[in-house]
Amino acid sequence: MNLLENFPAFLHGGDYNPDQWLRTPEIIDEDFRLMDKARCNTFSIGIFSWSQYEPEEGKFDFSWLDDIMERCRIHEKKVFLATPSAARPAWLAHKYPETNRVSAEGVRQPWGIRENHCWSSPVMRTKLALIIRKLAERYAAHPALAGWHISNEYNGACHCPLCRKEFVDFLKQRYGSLERLNELYWSAFWGHRYTAWDQVDPNDRAMDLAMLDFQRFNTQQVLDFMRFEIEALRDYSDAPVTTNMMGLYEGLDYWRIAEICDFIADDCYPVWYKGETEQTAAQYAMIHDMHYSMKGRPFLMMESCPGIPNYKPYCKIRRPGEFEREMLLALAHGADGTMYFQWRKGRGNCEKIHGAVVGHDGTDRTLVFQRVADYGAKLERIREVAGSLIRPEAAILYDWESAWALHNTKGFGEHAGNVTEQSLCGTVFSHYRALWTHSVPLSVLESACDFSGYKLLVAPMLFMMKPGVMERLVRFVEEGGTLVMTYLSAYVDENNLCFYGGNPGGKILRELFGIWNEDIDLFEPETKQTLRLSGAPLGGKTEFEVLRRCEYLHAEGAQVLGVYGREFYAGSPALTVNFRGKGRAYYIGADTEPDFLEAFYGKLLGECGIAPVLPDLPPAVKAARREKDGSAYYFVQNLSDETQCVRLPFAMTDLWNDAPASRELLLPPAGSAVLKA
Ligand code: GAL
Repeated sequence: MNLLENFPAFLHGGDYNPDQWLRTPEIIDEDFRLMDKARCNTFSIGIFSWSQYEPEEGKFDFSWLDDIMERCRIHEKKVFLATPSAARPAWLAHKYPETNRVSAEGVRQPWGIRENHCWSSPVMRTKLALIIRKLAERYAAHPALAGWHISNEYNGACHCPLCRKEFVDFLKQRYGSLERLNELYWSAFWGHRYTAWDQVDPNDRAMDLAMLDFQRFNTQQVLDFMRFEIEALRDYSDAPVTTNMMGLYEGLDYWRIAEICDFIADDCYPVWYKGETEQTAAQYAMIHDMHYSMKGRPFLMMESCPGIPNYKPYCKIRRPGEFEREMLLALAHGADGTMYFQWRKGRGNCEKIHGAVVGHDGTDRTLVFQRVADYGAKLERIREVAGSLIRPEAAILYDWESAWALHNTKGFGEHAGNVTEQSLCGTVFSHYRALWTHSVPLSVLESACDFSGYKLLVAPMLFMMKPGVMERLVRFVEEGGTLVMTYLSAYVDENNLCFYGGNPGGKILRELFGIWNEDIDLFEPETKQTLRLSGAPLGGKTEFEVLRRCEYLHAEGAQVLGVYGREFYAGSPALTVNFRGKGRAYYIGADTEPDFLEAFYGKLLGECGIAPVLPDLPPAVKAARREKDGSAYYFVQNLSDETQCVRLPFAMTDLWNDAPASRELLLPPAGSAVLKA
């Protein structure tokens, strides 16, 4: 199924802000000429336009948008029209200061920046519903309208009295009685017994569950706000809705937001620094795979930068091949469209230097424009690939609540919380990367997802076990699945309370893995530790370096595959497997160097019968496969600065580079191909 019904092609376009150019209509004329030239077919419009629509309270002017929508129709552009909640007009914030957010310290914030309104302010909602309804009524039937872009990159929290009251209601609903709350909050600790609901302070760093509940509540509040925006549209329009996510942004549990989106949209701003190409490609492949997995169908890369985002530490001009490879990486991992922030660079303010398709020269002569236009033309060559699916047999788990719980838990040293975007080189990412390097299709799931149908399931550092997850993991293994879990997994339940009966996960997972994790050794870089394999070498090695974390394990029925090489616990288990039912459960107690994971997963994938999408690829070449109507499409990408030669198992046509069928593919530095068998 295609991302948009009746549009069997990839979406290509970007954020278009013509309201910054209303004084120069000739620029808008030129925009449409250039859009056609760049083969752009889709635009997000009106994201920050509330003050243009309603320059004064109750006075509306949609004439400029009427004109833009009409031009979009004539030029056959699809439009995602935004609900304009991300930027309130000055008049609104000044007349109704209660629409401004309150910080955690209780200070009302001044108007300015964007995306910072109070989630519960009634006047914010009244005013917003009015403008949304007017937009929906006016444009619902417009032929250019393809869908609704709800707000922009929802983020942040509000601590005003109204929001705090909603937090109390959330707690009442979740716990039913104060007695129950006190019990689960373990409030005898430091004398925290609560005698009234509103005594629970989400910023009390002593109380792990209070912090966690506020994060859960914040997601609920954003969901409620988003639902409110969607409902305001629905009297008039049933066009699809989405909101643009920000990768693994730690503030919101995106799986919950995904539930109310008709399709998933994400914003991606990688930079490609020397020596980090593989790392960056793997990181974004993981994010893309998660967005595909959320609905098990194509998503949209809603924002990306055709030039360079202005806030990166190094703003390097893009090297040849790099832009195209970044776009194709998204398509390879299930995107059905790539769009830019933004179409045209504005002349003023904090994004005036941010990359855009059209620069301050205003022409089609720039490198950026030409690359975009070239990419747009090539997209038409692979039109038939749009709507194709990915069929992974291996999955990796990443849970927001688990990441929050770990982050809120004092302990485990400074690196404990490294499962957020800033440090994706943390455990989840290093396991993803080790799998990805073998060019196998992967799902990135949360622990609530259905695991059946997968052959291999990897749960790295799944600190929190939500209700029912342990039982489902057991069933997965008993029914023949291969499960891998690592250190720092299954320490706490959904209330961030440690399991009683030992790790991992008390009785249930101790039995499943056949081990007891007595403690974790978190050491300084000066301490050296290794993992020594008990059996055959992996990737030619029998001993691997271990970095900063080792769990002190005891085998309770598991087979020991590897032991620690040093320190007083040398010889004790570091890597184990336990057989249960038709499957098996591996436990990795140590944070190993990447080559261990790569070799370990290489072997395991083979044993699970999961083959790379193409055999014998050179190490610097990665491949992904999408399938549709009996056809398979292979995205092959060169992540190096040297030409790579790929021997193919059978002759394939390179649709992307318009090359005839061959069994040999020559990829220039940073080159990409899209092959059809
Ligand atoms: C996004 C945002 C855009 C633009 C862009 C710049 O986070 O949605 O409006 O600011 O960043 O990279």
